[in-house]
Amino acid sequence: MAKDGPTPDRLSHTVRFGDCMQILPKLKPESARLVLTDPPYGIAYESTKGVRIANDDNPFIWWMREAFRVVAPGGSMLCFCRWDVQEVFRVAVQAAGFTLKSQVVWDKDWPGMGDTGATFSPIHEVIWFAVKGRFKFPAGRPRSVIRVRRPASQHRTHPTEKPVELLEQLITATTRPGDLVVDPFAGTGSSGVAAKQTGRSWTGIELHPEYVEIARSRIRASRRYTRDC
Ligand SMILES: C[S@@+](CC[C@H](N)C(=O)[O-])C[C@H]1O[C@@H](n2cnc3c(N)ncnc32)[C@H](O)[C@@H]1O
Repeated sequence: MAKDGPTPDRLSHTVRFGDCMQILPKLKPESARLVLTDPPYGIAYESTKGVRIANDDNPFIWWMREAFRVVAPGGSMLCFCRWDVQEVFRVAVQAAGFTLKSQVVWDKDWPGMGDTGATFSPIHEVIWFAVKGRFKFPAGRPRSVIRVRRPASQHRTHPTEKPVELLEQLITATTRPGDLVVDPFAGTGSSGVAAKQTGRSWTGIELHPEYVEIARSRIRASRRYTRDC
């Protein structure tokens, strides 16, 4: 894939403003090595400041067939979700055409809130890993539990922001430098920063104009770390 994609010196990092249901169909077929995304889980999330996520009343799964079309044979998808909606996402991933391979657990290293008297203190989220055709990890076999501290609320640019360090680990485990990563639910561009810092190209799509602006400025401000990861 790397030899057919852009060379590491000609990377591109673009956020497209709009609905992924309209924009994903316009992306080139089989152009991405990885779809890495954190869609609306369908849990009617509301932050402590009352901020909600668009399309989050039911699990938002309708984009997956287009994601499958965009992924190159030998590529993969990593899709975040939560324990109580993971079955809906699992069925959708397989119905889209992907072969389910693993569940990755993100250990957030810092518990969330919820019903403090009657639920176990929530400290993890799950990520489905699925492939298209024959996939092989480019740099050895990664472990299925990854611990990275979730961003503290005072440092977050998005209410459900994922840590760049976690996304970098997922990107470097599944792609090579120069590959294209696509994120249809880009938020404030955490996966774009991770792609740029690790020398991958990235196309993100985001519905919320303010998040698009933040994503663009975060990506502009980020730099590639090394030439070989
Ligand atoms: C869970 S958040 C992603 C946060 C992201 N991982 C980050 O670290 O910033 C999901 C995002 O999808 C966006 N969204 C919801 N429906 C969408 C759609 N149809 N097309 C594009 N973006 C959408 C929401 O505005 C929200 O920012």
